[in-house]
Amino acid sequence: MTVKEIFELVRDDLARVEEEIAAQSNSALEPVSEIGNYLLSGGGKRLRPALLLLSARFCGVRGEGAIRLGAVVELIHSATLVHDDVIDDANLRRGRASANSRWGNHMSVLAGDWLYMQSFQMALRERNFRVLDILIDLTQNMVEGELMQLTQLGRLEQTEAEALDLAYRKTACLLSGCAQLGAVLADRDPLTEQALAEYGKYSGLAFQVVDDLLDFTASPKILGKPVLNDLKDGKITLPLIYALEGSGPEERRMVNTILDEKGFVSVRRDQITSLVRTTGAIERTRRLAQDFAAKAKACLLDLSDSDYRRALLALPDFILEREN
Ligand code: IPE
Ligand code: IPE
Ligand code: MG
Ligand code: MG
Repeated sequence: MTVKEIFELVRDDLARVEEEIAAQSNSALEPVSEIGNYLLSGGGKRLRPALLLLSARFCGVRGEGAIRLGAVVELIHSATLVHDDVIDDANLRRGRASANSRWGNHMSVLAGDWLYMQSFQMALRERNFRVLDILIDLTQNMVEGELMQLTQLGRLEQTEAEALDLAYRKTACLLSGCAQLGAVLADRDPLTEQALAEYGKYSGLAFQVVDDLLDFTASPKILGKPVLNDLKDGKITLPLIYALEGSGPEERRMVNTILDEKGFVSVRRDQITSLVRTTGAIERTRRLAQDFAAKAKACLLDLSDSDYRRALLALPDFILEREN
């Protein structure tokens, strides 16, 4: 199944998610609604609502609840991105100026707060404590992920385990929640719910590992955000962790210099790209992403076959092949 075919399966519902999202941001006060609309009209893959809708359909439900929660998870994602761009002092998001660079940090922080609260208010409409449990838990995890990343900034001694913990918190727990919520909405048995949650987690880990990879390999035009940016920001991500494992003091000094200078001043960009390539770190990172994608698919092994299951099985491949 191609990515187009995957999204096609839930196209009608995704269109209703868009309407719901627009209605929500329009209900905000002026600067917030403007920021909300700007963000949500700026594209974005809508991976999270798509996953939630597919999972719900796979579990046998469709309709209002799933559409509303699809909007909820996209709003939570957007709020996270607005805050993240403030924290990272990023100028570009989804190929255009980030909210913070247009409206400033103060306005962006408040817009993000408002979006979080609006999404929880919407989620409350389900009158389902399990739904709130999952959403609150994952949002807290995401905030903790950002906090942990801040405390680890600029530290060369980053381990693979730390990087994966960050990937789980920043990205995988939301995708896990999306897949799990489909089962919760359908009131499915705990085993199915668990299988879907694990599926979402591994898909999310693959997604974040690919994100780390794209920072070294992508074209900024297609990616919609700058490349070779993580290191400049003080983030030692997986490709670099692997590259440093396989190299000596010279290379560590080089990376440290970039961390100290907070950019490519006395070290050239191509020295870093060639470091991650020649040490095999790019390949190793890609293999890890492939492993996670395979693990995601394996979670669905015992579940009954349907178009939706086939779509869920194809999604991790799309994550591996994505260019933005
Ligand atoms: C960006 O997520 C943030 C990360 C988890 C790396 P996406 O790449 O899904 O962002 P959009 O929504 O498509 O812009
Ligand atoms: C994105 O994190 C926000 C979250 C996933 C919480 P990053 O800072 O790593 O990703 P980009 O590069 O801004 O999308
Ligand atoms: Mg960022
Ligand atoms: Mg960040």
